[in-house]
This record gives sequence, C-alpha cells and structure tokens, in this order.
Amino acid sequence: MIEACIFDLDGVIVDTAKYHFIAWRRLANELGFDFSEEDNEKLKGVSRIDSLNLILQWGGIEMSEDKKQEWATRKNDWYREYILKMGADEMLEGVREFLDQLKANDIKYALGSASKNAGTVMKQIGLENEFQAIIDGTKTTKGKPDPQVFQMGADAMGVAPENCIVFEDAAKGVEAALNGGFYAVGVGKPEHLAKAHMVISGFKNLGWQDILNGIQQ
Ligand code: BG6
Ligand code: MG
Repeated sequence: MIEACIFDLDGVIVDTAKYHFIAWRRLANELGFDFSEEDNEKLKGVSRIDSLNLILQWGGIEMSEDKKQEWATRKNDWYREYILKMGADEMLEGVREFLDQLKANDIKYALGSASKNAGTVMKQIGLENEFQAIIDGTKTTKGKPDPQVFQMGADAMGVAPENCIVFEDAAKGVEAALNGGFYAVGVGKPEHLAKAHMVISGFKNLGWQDILNGIQQ
C-alpha cells in the first residue's frame, strides 16, 4: 500500500536544472572549455563539489582544493542570481494539481534533494511550509546513488520505503531510490531513466491513479 511520495526538487518540481547547466557551463567557459547538454545529464543529482570535479576532469584541469572551493562558490553565486528571481509560476506544469491530489488521497509527501539551495527554492515558489519534511544537501552526508536522502525523508514521515514512491529526473536519483527499496518514477526521457518502475514526461494532466497503475506493472 502506497502511503507517501518523495520528490526530488531540481528538474522535478522546478526546472532549475537549466540554471545549474548555465552556471556550470559559464564556469567551464571561463576556464577555457565547454561541455554539452548530454554531458550535463551526468551532473543531475550530483553534489556541487562532485559536479565540479567531473567538469574539471572533462576539461583536463587540475587545481588545489582551495581553488576548487573558490570556483564552486562562484558557480553557486551565479546560480543563486537565477533562483532568487524565481516565483510560483516557475513550478513545473501540473505539480500543484498533483500535490492537491495527494492531499485528497491522504498521501504524505516530502522533499529529497541533493541541493543546499533547496530551502531557498522552496521559499521562492511558496512550497516551504507544506511538505511533511524537507531533506536536502544541508542535512545529508552521502550523495545519490546512496539512498540516505530518501531514507531520511521516509523516516521523517514514518513510512517504510516499500510504501513510498520517489520521483526523480536523474539516473543517479532513480538508482538511489531503488538502492533504498523505494518505488521509482522517472520524470523525463525514458532513455535516461530506464531503471525506474515507470517514466513520466511530467505532471501535466497526470492522475494519482495513473501512477499507482504504472508502478504495479
Ligand atoms: C541537485 C542537482 O539537485 O543538486 C545538481 O541536480 C546539483 O545539479 C545538486 O549540483 C547540488 O546543488 P547545490 O544547489 O547545493 O549546488
Ligand atoms: Mg533532479
């Protein structure tokens, strides 16, 4: 019996994945190289410092830990310029209606994000007070594909993983959900999220019953 849902934030509730991409790309460009949107898929769900390490590897650049911190902070400043301009209209289409369906069906919901900016984003879009729990990169010690972030969310809601569905746009996030024994619904393109129990393109016109039917296939 499904009792709860856990939502990733970036790329699931809001399209902040595009702001992360713009800011990381700017960093790469300032360091004298570029990377593609396909490469960017590998950064989804990955922590700030791990993302930086991957990008530096792509550019064949080595730097001291101090310099890495400086660049990571610079990227975060650029990213925050975008998110501080966000409003409720940037919530992805259908998310609000889907959350309302969960409420109507007595399904609990929490946030499970790798981002240390999750609190800011949730505030910008007006969702800071309605989730049962907000677990983000300021609370976790292990990144996806480790299931820690989702386990903490499930614990906070008092539900078992097998009674909980995780919504994720990142392959690493889907893996994290499966590693923790959760149901995983991929949000995005099936080719990136093949391991999930089901994949949806988004929440527009999505019925709660469609999800229940989909994961039981
Ligand atoms: C994830 C994003 O949600 O959060 C990643 O998919 C990002 O792209 C990660 O690197 C960490 O985010 P932040 O906001 O703490 O740099
Ligand atoms: Mg995401």
